[in-house]
Amino acid sequence: MFSGDHIMQTHSSRISGFHNLPMADRLAKLVDISGLTPDAAEHLANTGNLEAAIADSMIENAIGTMNIPLGVATNMIVDGRDVLIPMATEESSVVAAVCNAARQCRDSGGFVTSMSGSLMIAQIQLTQVPDPEFARLRILEQKAQIQQVCDDTDPVLLKHGGGFRDLEVRVLNEARGGAMVVTHLIVDTRDAMGANAVNSMAEAVAPLIAQWTGGRPYLRILSNLADRRLARARATWTLDAIGGEAVRDGIISAYEFAHIDPYRAATHNKGIMNGVSAVVLASGNDTRAVEAGAHAYAARSGQYRSLTHFEVDRDGNLVGTIEMPLAVGLVGGATKSHPTAQVVLDILGVDSADQLARVFAAVGLAQNFSALKALATTGIQKGHMALHAKNIAVMAGAVGAEIEAVARELIARGKVRVDIAEECLQQMRA
Ligand code: MEV
Repeated sequence: MFSGDHIMQTHSSRISGFHNLPMADRLAKLVDISGLTPDAAEHLANTGNLEAAIADSMIENAIGTMNIPLGVATNMIVDGRDVLIPMATEESSVVAAVCNAARQCRDSGGFVTSMSGSLMIAQIQLTQVPDPEFARLRILEQKAQIQQVCDDTDPVLLKHGGGFRDLEVRVLNEARGGAMVVTHLIVDTRDAMGANAVNSMAEAVAPLIAQWTGGRPYLRILSNLADRRLARARATWTLDAIGGEAVRDGIISAYEFAHIDPYRAATHNKGIMNGVSAVVLASGNDTRAVEAGAHAYAARSGQYRSLTHFEVDRDGNLVGTIEMPLAVGLVGGATKSHPTAQVVLDILGVDSADQLARVFAAVGLAQNFSALKALATTGIQKGHMALHAKNIAVMAGAVGAEIEAVARELIARGKVRVDIAEECLQQMRA
């Protein structure tokens, strides 16, 4: 489209004062330095439905926006409520996977969800403590004062029913430089994801801990292993709905493979995150925080395993469950500042972060069911390539109505390849 072949990489990446420029001037400078074509410059200047001023306020050195498709998965019932699921993803089969899984468990009630709480953990790392066990108790004795400092740090959170809940102090003996004393502040962050709240608390409490123990504080930051903020979802698929015992047993065997083999578990959980990350992103939440938490939780036993489980219930149905940390919020960050995220939250129709996380967990389970079912039956490529056909058509140069026509022809020929798409296109245009 906007070929970069002409760009000579001879410029320096040191651009003094770049961040001080207004966004349009930053783009002009980039165009100038990189030798972008006028078409490429115009493309970047079009920020779509994210106003340039908002994009500029969200990150450093903004020069444009990056659009990816937003789809809506249908058929989901979560806790008895029909929910439409907006998903932001570049992967063609992700939305369809949720629709299919949700359709196949609608008659058995859809997804039932729950949440362990909305507690986040902030860590304060203390080093150079000569008497770590003694220090541990000294810190634990100060719980009331620590609570006071934390709650004073975020009165807004307190007003919304959140705030400090508990204190844990761990002595880690494995460090080469001597024992570390690590304090966990456990904070209810309610409808906020809570990173800013708990980080501020950790920074406020750290000097006091240093004073009480004589140790040296270094890191003061949340843990993304949000294992006190676990979202859970379960669903039942009848044999009639999924196509019989062989399909059920194939799905269970696929799950067992992921349970016992980390190589498979990584791909299995990647599939789960195809769904979870797409809806987390669409809602303006932090995909990396959720992903880090998910993978760390999957490894909590010492072996990296599946985040889902599949079993057979007493009636012979397939039952699936998921449990994973889901630290997401409804207030703060891009959930509030990104206009599309606001619309997405309206479509989801949730009124608490707890509900939001529970819907996300259901999406993860749905996504995983569809992937395992496809893998255990026809294989992933058939459905995947059918959905990918339009992408291939665009890659071959199809535009407008040609895209659909070329995609249809590729599927009919059973060969979803760029060279075949080019051939179809030539024939159509001849
Ligand atoms: C592809 O993006 C996701 C899958 O590989 C997931 C899986 O293998 O379970 C299909």
